[in-house]
Amino acid sequence: MAEVIIVKNQQEAGRIYARSVADLIKNKPDAVLGLATGSSPLAAYEELAKIIENEKIDVSRVRGFALDEYIGLPLSHPQSYHSTIHRTVVEPLGLDPANVRVPGDVLEGAPLSDSARVAHAGEEYDKAIAAAGGVDVQILGIGTDGHVGFNEPGSSLASGTRVKTLAQQTREDNARFFDNDVDKVPTHCITQGIGTILKARHLVLLAFGEGKAEAVAETVEGGVSSFCPASALQLHPHATVIVDEEAASRLRHKDYYRWAYAHKPAWQSI
Ligand code: GLP
Repeated sequence: MAEVIIVKNQQEAGRIYARSVADLIKNKPDAVLGLATGSSPLAAYEELAKIIENEKIDVSRVRGFALDEYIGLPLSHPQSYHSTIHRTVVEPLGLDPANVRVPGDVLEGAPLSDSARVAHAGEEYDKAIAAAGGVDVQILGIGTDGHVGFNEPGSSLASGTRVKTLAQQTREDNARFFDNDVDKVPTHCITQGIGTILKARHLVLLAFGEGKAEAVAETVEGGVSSFCPASALQLHPHATVIVDEEAASRLRHKDYYRWAYAHKPAWQSI
């Protein structure tokens, strides 16, 4: 079972993540961070940027691997995950762009039909993660349908990085980044698989707001099922789920999670 931490707001969640990652980098200057897009991790990156500045932490050797990318968008498109990760993580944290990879980087906007470039990109990405020694801490958001990365319901829980078709729900959720026009949202993506994500040494899932309450309850307290891909976190030996009151509202064991966190031994980090 994952550790569930119920917090007041995104900043508090962000501080918990940031403290843990800052300590990791101090102990391991070439730490490998698993990075995610979406609004949920933004406060966590901001808090981490503050600690890096205040404590003058050297991040020049920190490496990063993003979870996913749309297929067919030029890398320079403001909504490509390449651009998003650079804008929200690489620049504010002061990482070396050469040390950070996004799964679509090698595709340069190649269309889905370009099998020579698209078909093996996932396999190559997984090899690159393995060659870097694996991900130390993977930050995750969650879709309203329980997806992580872009692993839509039905995704194999053993999957590696590969091309996926986006669910219509996800395209509608993400239309807000594309002038509210669902037709502008790409239909396909390349995403780390659930099997890839489970190889990271620590998973930190962040979810906020009532809209995520059902997905969070399914993830933490439902059965492990490919219909809620995030429920695979239950199979991971070190998973932390940080949620606000609204996202926690459908959890049955809230009282226990609060009690356990309040009585956590001081020497234990997340
Ligand atoms: C997208 C991303 C996911 C992210 C999800 C939720 O679909 N591919 O990685 O978790 O959106 O985004 P938000 O945090 O903005 O709700």
